[in-house]
Formats: sequence, structure tokens, C-alpha cells
Amino acid sequence: MEERAFGPVVGLGSSRTFDADVELARRVVDATHDSGCRLYDTSPMYGSEEALGLALGPYRSESVVATKIWAGSLEEGRAQFENQLRWFGRVEIEQVHNLVSWEAHLPWLEQEREAGRIGRIGVTHWQASAFPELARALRTGRFSVLQVPYNPLEQDSARELLPLAEELGVVVIVMRPLGDKSRLPSPPRAAELAPLREFGVETWAQALLKWALSDYRIDAVIPATRRPEHARENAAAGAPPWLGPDERKLVERLAET
Ligand SMILES: NC(=O)c1ccc[n+]([C@@H]2O[C@H](COP(=O)([O-])OP(=O)(O)OC[C@H]3O[C@@H](n4cnc5c(N)ncnc54)[C@H](OP(=O)(O)O)[C@@H]3O)[C@@H](O)[C@H]2O)c1
Repeated sequence: MEERAFGPVVGLGSSRTFDADVELARRVVDATHDSGCRLYDTSPMYGSEEALGLALGPYRSESVVATKIWAGSLEEGRAQFENQLRWFGRVEIEQVHNLVSWEAHLPWLEQEREAGRIGRIGVTHWQASAFPELARALRTGRFSVLQVPYNPLEQDSARELLPLAEELGVVVIVMRPLGDKSRLPSPPRAAELAPLREFGVETWAQALLKWALSDYRIDAVIPATRRPEHARENAAAGAPPWLGPDERKLVERLAET
């Protein structure tokens, strides 16, 4: 396996999870931290940033916060960043959410990086139709993090973006690693997952997370959860041994049925 810039790690997503529920955020963050999680993804879009900041409290210095700027105007973007500085102190990974006004935001984000208040600048989008624009953004050489969907049923990012990220040395964070969530309540049977057990996979969620992390181009997956027991289960997928091509194909076949 080739060396990765960052990872492979299981982080925590926070879309539609905590809202303003600080106690819920604390329970989930305590579980993820105890399980070794150090990467937390959020956004002004999710309404979870402040709760996450409060929940991270004692763990903040050991954690990597990946949040986003989701703003059509510079004023709004700067106001979002001011809030983030209050909640997180510093932002290790600042991503332009869904490419919104990315060319306008880049200069001030780069100034903040120069000043040390931002670590890396990234860019995200969830929709395959936006991937050519994501590729154009990456080719500027001004982003060092890419966040896209990648799961057995959503592999559009593997066509152009993952090879491009590899070529440019860009860190890749995978959103929606659990794919079509309708399959989660009725997962494949234990016997179907049996060939994956020697790879440390006990559950369907772990099979999907390990499927993504076993691609050497992937640095992190960020499953979202409100349940501490799911956070612990997910974190366990972040350790080797990694799946080989046959096991990854098995996960793809099971995802399709
Ligand atoms: N444009 C963007 O930048 C963008 C777009 C989409 C997503 N994202 C980021 O990516 C993150 C992940 O994407 P996502 O929230 O769409 O989907 P996801 O993480 O693939 O799935 C979250 C769902 O999976 C369930 N789940 C988590 N762990 C589980 C487990 N072990 N067993 C069974 N169910 C489990 C959760 O329910 P429970 O609460 O019951 O566990 C929740 O309903 C987001 O939170 C966000 O941070 C970014």
C-alpha cells in the first residue's frame, strides 16, 4: 500500500445530528474520542458547530476540526469564520462547502492560512454533476483537501477526482461513506459478511467504512451518528488489515442486492 498524506482514519460527520443539543454532542464526542477518533467534520449548514465546539472542550487540542464556509458573499463567509474562531479557536481544515463562491472566498481564506488561523483549505461537493468544477478548483493547486461521496453505490468520484487528488497530493475525506442508508436497517446476513471477519469486520457499517478506507487514495471517512454505540462500532473500522480487491468486490456485490 502506498503512503497516505493523512490517515487512514474514521472521523465523525455532523450533518443533521446534534443541532443545538450539547448533551447529545457530548455523549457522541466522548464515545468517538475514547475510540480514537480525532477528526470532526461540520458546517454552518448543519447547525451543529457550536454544540460540537462545546463538546470538544477537553479534547480540542488533540482534535482536527474540519468545518466549512457556506456563503454567497464575503461578508457572510467572514462572519461564519468569526463564529468558528469563537467556537474552535482555530480551524485545521476549512472547506468551501459545495463550491459556493469558491473563487471569491479563496483569497481571504489564504490570508487566514498565512496568519495561522486556518491549517488547510479544502473544497466539497456531493453531486456528480459538480465534479468537473471540483476538478477545475483542484487544478488551481490552491486546495489541499477534497471532500466527496465514495461508497460501493456511488463511485463517480473515482473516475477523475481521486486520481487527480493523488496526482496533486490532496487529502481526500469521504462523505456519505455508508451509502444508501435504507440498507442499514436490513444489512446482509452474518454468513454473507463471514469472509470479512478476518479483516476485523463484524457489521455492515464496518464493511462499508473499510471498503472506502481500503482504497489507498482515501484519507478519512466521516460517518455521522447520534448514537455512541454506532460511533464506537464505526471507529473500529479504522484499523488494518485492509480489504483486498476480492473483499472489496464482495462488499460491492452485497451493496447491490
Ligand atoms: N456537501 C458536503 O460537504 C457534504 C454533503 C453530505 C455530507 N457531508 C458530510 O459527511 C457526513 C456523512 O454523510 P451523511 O450524514 O450524509 O451520511 P452517513 O454518515 O453516510 O450516514 C449517516 C446515517 O447513518 C447512520 N449510522 C451511522 N453509523 C451507523 C452504524 N454503525 N450502524 C447503522 N447506522 C449508522 C446514522 O444513524 P444513527 O444516528 O442512528 O447512527 C445516520 O442516519 C455528514 O455528516 C457531513 O459531515 C458533507
